[in-house]
Parts: sequence; C-alpha cells; structure tokens
Amino acid sequence: MEICFLLNGTPVRVQADAEETLLEILRNRLGIRSCKEGCRPQGQCGSCLALVDGRPLATCVIPATRIEGRNVVTLEGLDPVARDLYARCFEATSGLQCGWCIPGIVVRAHAFLQSHPEPTRSELARALDGHVCRCTGYKRILDALELAAAVRRGQPIPGVERSGGVGRPVVRYQARASVLGERAFVADLTPPGLLHGALVLSRHPRARVLRVDPSRALALPGVSGVLTAADVPGERWVGLITRDWPVFVAVGEEVRCVGDVLAAVAAEDPVLARRAAALVEVDYEPLPPILEPEAALEPGASRVNPRHVNLLSRSHYSRGQVAQALAEGVHTVAGVWTTQRVDHLFMEPEACLAVPEEGGVRLFTQGQGIFDDRRQVAEVLGLEAEAVQVELIPNGGAFGGKEDLSVQAHAALLARHAGRPVRLALSREESVLMHPKRHPMRLEYAAACDAEGRLTAVRARIVGDTGAYASVGDKVMERAAGHACGPYRVPALDVEALAVYTNNPPCGAMRGFGVNQAAFAIEGCLDLLARKVGLDAWEIRRRNLVGPGDLFTTGQVLGPPAVGAARTLEALREPYLEARRRGRAVGLACGIKNVGIGNGMPDEGQAVLRVEDGDGGFTLFSGFTEMGQGLLTVLV
Ligand code: FES
Repeated sequence: MEICFLLNGTPVRVQADAEETLLEILRNRLGIRSCKEGCRPQGQCGSCLALVDGRPLATCVIPATRIEGRNVVTLEGLDPVARDLYARCFEATSGLQCGWCIPGIVVRAHAFLQSHPEPTRSELARALDGHVCRCTGYKRILDALELAAAVRRGQPIPGVERSGGVGRPVVRYQARASVLGERAFVADLTPPGLLHGALVLSRHPRARVLRVDPSRALALPGVSGVLTAADVPGERWVGLITRDWPVFVAVGEEVRCVGDVLAAVAAEDPVLARRAAALVEVDYEPLPPILEPEAALEPGASRVNPRHVNLLSRSHYSRGQVAQALAEGVHTVAGVWTTQRVDHLFMEPEACLAVPEEGGVRLFTQGQGIFDDRRQVAEVLGLEAEAVQVELIPNGGAFGGKEDLSVQAHAALLARHAGRPVRLALSREESVLMHPKRHPMRLEYAAACDAEGRLTAVRARIVGDTGAYASVGDKVMERAAGHACGPYRVPALDVEALAVYTNNPPCGAMRGFGVNQAAFAIEGCLDLLARKVGLDAWEIRRRNLVGPGDLFTTGQVLGPPAVGAARTLEALREPYLEARRRGRAVGLACGIKNVGIGNGMPDEGQAVLRVEDGDGGFTLFSGFTEMGQGLLTVLV
C-alpha cells in the first residue's frame, strides 16, 4: 500500500507492507538513523522515539497503516539550534557512554522541556521513565538535561575543553555525533547491493532435528538463499575456549537450548527475510531437557553436549585443616546461597555486516573480540585467517555478552553465498535467546571464626549452570572459586567450583565474571558471624580484611606495597556509623576483583601509532573494544 505523511517538514510517499511499523518505514525506506531498533515491537526501551503530531511516541509499536496524513518529526528534523544545544550539553556533562539510548532521550527531553521550562531533577527523571540506558546509571544524562533546561532559560553553555594533553579533560570521542544519532552502529551501515539476513532458531531446549526444509522460503520472490549445516564449508563447531557450539545444528543432531540456529536466510529487505525464516519448516522429536546442574551430574544422565561430558570444569583451592578448624571454631555458620540467571540486556542487539571481498570477506561487527571473531569465522568458512578482515563498529553496550560469536559466521556465509553484502541484525527477543548470561550458582558455604570474629576456616561448594555451551563458563567458575573468600584473611579453606552443562541458555562472561555470586555468599557468612560474635558489619570486616603479605583465596601473596582494602573500609566508617546512629537500615559489604584475565595468563596487547605526513596528526590503530566504557576517549 502507499502511505503519505509529513517527515521532518517534507511530504513523503512510501510503499509499505501491512505488517510494517513506522520504525521500519523510517529506517528501511527513508534513511532515518536516530530512531534505533532496541526492542521492536515492544515499545519498552525508548530508542525509537519520534514526535508524531507533536507527541513523543515509540515508533516500533505504530503500524505503518496508521501514519497516513500524520506529521512525524525525528531528531534529524529538530531545529538546528535545539540540536546544537543538546549536543553541547551532553558533551559538557559527559552525559553519554555507548550513545545508543541518547537520541531517543533527546527527543523526549525536547518535547518535555517545551511544556516544563523549569523542571526539577525528579520531574526530569520521571519524564525518562520510558527510556532504558544500560551504561550510564542516568546520573550524567540528568545532568545534561538539567543543563539543557537552564540553557533554554538563558544560562550560557559551559565551554568544552578541546585542547587535549595529558592531565587535561578531554571531551568524549564522537559525543556530538552520538547524541544526534549520526554515529553509525552496525545496523545503520547500508552499502550498495545490501541483502538482509534472518535466522531460524530452535524453540525447544532439547529435541532431535528430523528435517529442515527451506523450499517454501526459497520460493518467495526476493529471497536470495537459505543456508543450513550442510552449507558450511569449514569447521561447523566454534567456541572461545571449547569448540562445542555449532553455527548450525544439523539434521540428526539435537538442539541443546532454545536459540540454537537451524537455518539462515538472506533476502532483499529485513521484513521479507524474517517472513522467509518463518517459512523454513523444521521437524523435531522433543526430548526431555536437563534443566538442573545436579541432574546433569547424576550417573547415567544423558550428555547435553556431544563435545564434552556434562562436567565442564572443576576449580579447587585448599590449604590448612578445614574440617578440624570448622569443628573447633568458636562460632560457625553454614548455609546455601543461590543466584539467578541475569541477562546483560545491552541496548544494541547483535548485528553484523559481511561484505564479500576477493578471496574472503570483510566483517563489520559489534563483537567484543575482533581477533576471536576473525579466527572462528575463518575456520567456519574454511579460509586462512588473513582472508577475513574484521572491523569493530563501537557497539551499543556489551558487558561481556558479546564475547562469543553470535551472528558473524552466519552473515559471512550468507554474503559469500550471495556474492553481495549481507547485514544480519537480531531482534531483542532473538538476542535474549542467543547470547550467554550471567551464571546462576548454588553456593553452599560453611565458615568459622574465633571469639573475636577472626575467620579461621571457609568451606565452599559452588555449582554453576553453564547451560548448553561452554562459552567461558570454566573461567567464570574459576573466578568464583578464586574469589570465594572475598577480601578476607582465611587460614584454612577448601573451595570447589563446578561448571556444569544443562539444556538451559548458555552462560558466560558478564560484569564481575563469577565474582559477584561468590561475594554474595561470603558477605552473607560475615554478616551471620558478626551477629553471633556481637560485632557490627563494619568491625567484623575490619578484623578480617587482607593486607600486605596476606594470602588471597588462590594462595597469591597480596602486595607489597599497597593493598587498598583497609583504607577503603576506613573511609566508610563514619558514614556507616552515622547511618546507624540515625536508626537507618544500612548494610555493608566488601568486594574484590582480579584485573585482566588473571590466573597466570599473560595479558598483552598491541597498537599501531602512525605519524601522518604534513599535518602533525597521528592515526591510532587498536584491536581493543569500545563498548561504551570510553576506550576511544582514553586512547585519544
Ligand atoms: Fe545509554 Fe549506552 S549510553 S545505553
């Protein structure tokens, strides 16, 4: 059908399918980039906001058929003076990280400030209720919006330091373009001849695949190809550490979790690609899934993953006479702590653009490790690594959830098959189904202390559900074991952490990397012991904190010279006591975390700094990942 409406002051006329949304029309047919696809079709994240007849609305929930005759204004269409104001206010306050969420927030703020010229901070916060930012914690965003409101009332915009130099503030790299939605993410890259990819994912946690039939999808005009396991020319199994994750599950094999990939489709537009994917017929024989690690470890339990036994790894540390120390402890506590699976919910769903090149392919990805991506994609394609070039497009958040290969190999296979560029971007739902999560853990602890509250022993048995694929689950559980006693001096310890396969979604890296869960358990033990000894939460920690020369859980000797734990705790003493004096409910916990990969692995990196001819400039090449944390600003 043909639809006419006003876009940023200009009448437009577009062809639209009945099932398309305004967001798809804006992005796919009209070249609008400020409206991001973060959760379509749920209208929950605020990334796709535009003004429709003056009202800020989520464009991903508006059917294209409803925009006939309406007036749509996106961030691109705001008055240039207003655009400049918001860009400068966000620059001045460093109000953004990855930048994905900011254009939608700017549109919301613009509409809100028209009717609320003197908003309080809490009014601004409430106005942002329909927006999700996963990077910033919102504080700096509110700083930026408070400043914008003040500037609109006549206050001058503070200048931004741009001279650079060591020890001087640096404005965030690409801040202005990010605020205005002009900084391209992978899903914004549109080379000539572009095809769009879509995946067919398993909805069963465990089932044998009996048939994958792409014939109905292939019959759709505009579909360029449907690929399955049979179309992989090289190695079908990938993995960061353990090669146990098939890029496609083959007929005759089992799917091992929801989100396993059965087929990939390329078509002339994204809506058609998804329609074609839905037409790929898959027959399954459902099988009983293993959903608990304990069940997976039972003798005779069926194998979750054919590449490994159900116990992925066992990490163990011990020293001293633990059983004796627990039996002789003046005070002892024991309990089981459990933690849940957590999704990173980075705002940018996984996406990859693959462009075929002579003898190989060039990938533009949002993955967290371009060299890991390159190695694995080259293996899948059956090519030398040098034939695969991978460029990171600074991504819209990752938090560990983009370390594993997601859609890169599928995009590369489709592009090589079609001989044309293919962009494959997941929906929010597909993203949640596919990528690894934070491990749910069961942490069984026993701890003892002397009459003064000094720890004498800790025993910990930790079991982590690593799901259907290893990812970096063995390393996560190694970190849980290595941090099992927190930042405390423990003379006798016996710690074991198991990573176990199940038919649940895979688990892998996420901020804290196994340490958070262990902290939850050991801090719980400290609080329970404090109660028995008659100490407050601060004092029992002071008596146990590690210092220079003490042993960490792993046996590493800390320091010298500096171990910052005691000074950190000391800084909290007065605020903690003051809160208690006021009768406020106040908790206190300590955390410690290794840096880098750790556990003896060398951490190394390389960069190239090229002095350019003529203008005194430099070009810096780095293989590390900008994911909102500010790497590029730091490198500048
Ligand atoms: Fe808000 Fe990254 S800056 S999601």
